[in-house]
Amino acid sequence: MNSNELLPEALQGSSLKLKDNPSATKTLFIESYGCQMNFSDSEIVASILQNEGYTTTTQAGSADLILVNTCAIRDNAEIRVRQRLQDYKKIKSKSDKPVLIGVLGCMAERLKKQFLEEERLVDVVVGPDAYRDLPRLLHEAESGRQSINVLLSKEETYADIAPLRLDQNGVSGFVSIMRGCDNMCSFCVVPFTRGRERSRDPQSILQECEDAYNQGYREITLLGQNVDSYKFSSNTGIALFSDLLKLIAEHLPNLWIRFSTSHPKDMTDDVLQVMALYPNICKYIHLPVQSGSDSVLERMNRGYTSAWYLNRIKAIRHFIPDCAISTDIITGFCGENPSDHQETLQLMKTVNFDFAYMFMYSERPKTLAERKYTDDVPETEKHIRLQEVIALQREHSKNALQKYVGTNQWVLIEGDSKKSNAFWMGRNSQNAVVIFPKLDEKKGDRVNVSITSSTYTALLGNRIL
Ligand code: 5AD
Ligand code: SF4
Repeated sequence: MNSNELLPEALQGSSLKLKDNPSATKTLFIESYGCQMNFSDSEIVASILQNEGYTTTTQAGSADLILVNTCAIRDNAEIRVRQRLQDYKKIKSKSDKPVLIGVLGCMAERLKKQFLEEERLVDVVVGPDAYRDLPRLLHEAESGRQSINVLLSKEETYADIAPLRLDQNGVSGFVSIMRGCDNMCSFCVVPFTRGRERSRDPQSILQECEDAYNQGYREITLLGQNVDSYKFSSNTGIALFSDLLKLIAEHLPNLWIRFSTSHPKDMTDDVLQVMALYPNICKYIHLPVQSGSDSVLERMNRGYTSAWYLNRIKAIRHFIPDCAISTDIITGFCGENPSDHQETLQLMKTVNFDFAYMFMYSERPKTLAERKYTDDVPETEKHIRLQEVIALQREHSKNALQKYVGTNQWVLIEGDSKKSNAFWMGRNSQNAVVIFPKLDEKKGDRVNVSITSSTYTALLGNRIL
């Protein structure tokens, strides 16, 4: 299995459908790569362009405008995007009408003018904080000028733009609550591509959640690069992440609430206590540890030790005994020796993560690690270590799912199971996938399922009538 196959669905490239707009004159094809934040940003872009008269198509070949919302987190993500841009350039050159190609997101921010000057791959380059400027940039590009805006902002949160919901299932949606990252983990390009941390007004977040609920959504994931460092200050006081969770959970008791991604340093007891108190806050925390070795964690500039991380795990289990925990792990970071790697495996055994996203270290230009340390673990060794981490996690994930066999689980139905439309696919509060035969339920229903067996990746069962 390669590490790409382990990427969550949200990390695979996918095109998105816009709702029909009868007065539209131009068509847009938009494709998103990378984290959920990019998918959420594409909904903001779609909303901005809908006002400009665009409707979408899932056929790149027939679009007037092709936008690719990109990810720069690892080199292989960038290689894939470049390949796609080459494909679109061919489509453009063969088209008998004028076609514009735009690159959005983190790669646009990282490579800036390089796309226009050296590579001549695209017509428009727009960074993550400049989407409001898209209409002007497109007009400029239509008149044959190179058009670029990669300014980062300390304030932009797009709080007033109602996103056009693009995801396919109509049941689970995303709401961005903060943007940017101030942590400066030494391996990470995000602080350079997404800028400083800023949080959105809680009332506008609540309103967006309520609108989503009224549109039929039954679950929302609050998004941010660093969701638990959410902090909004106004003249009436300061709202922290725990306050925001409480506000939404109380106002919308029938909406399931998830959030991603959390940094261990901000996972406070307050957040855990609020999670424990409200049944509609899902019992699932994604808490990237990255490494189990203190010297590696220090070079990574993560701001905690493995003991401190384990203390947070203890707190989660104390306040929320049934909480599922997942993580991110990087193998082969600068200076990681075999005993550091063993410490990562040991930490995994101590925590017993329900799920993990696992990656080989990929050096990124301009990051602290690139400037300060040598990328000295050979690729083959990074790969071997990754395979060991994956093999261990596979067993842990299997055991974690087995624990549910014989229990009853509330499941939110997201849609047909991939393998057969005679079965539903949904998730329980802990984010485990549950597959069960259809009776008279519908998508978006929450039903009680008796779990009869499990696989490496899913639970199987029958609805309790
Ligand atoms: N190389 C490999 N993995 C990385 N991540 C971030 N930057 C890098 C990099 N340079 C991983 C981290 C992070 C996740 C989103 O991606 O594990 O938590
Ligand atoms: Fe990158 Fe670290 Fe910020 Fe996450 S917390 S986005 S890994 S700098």
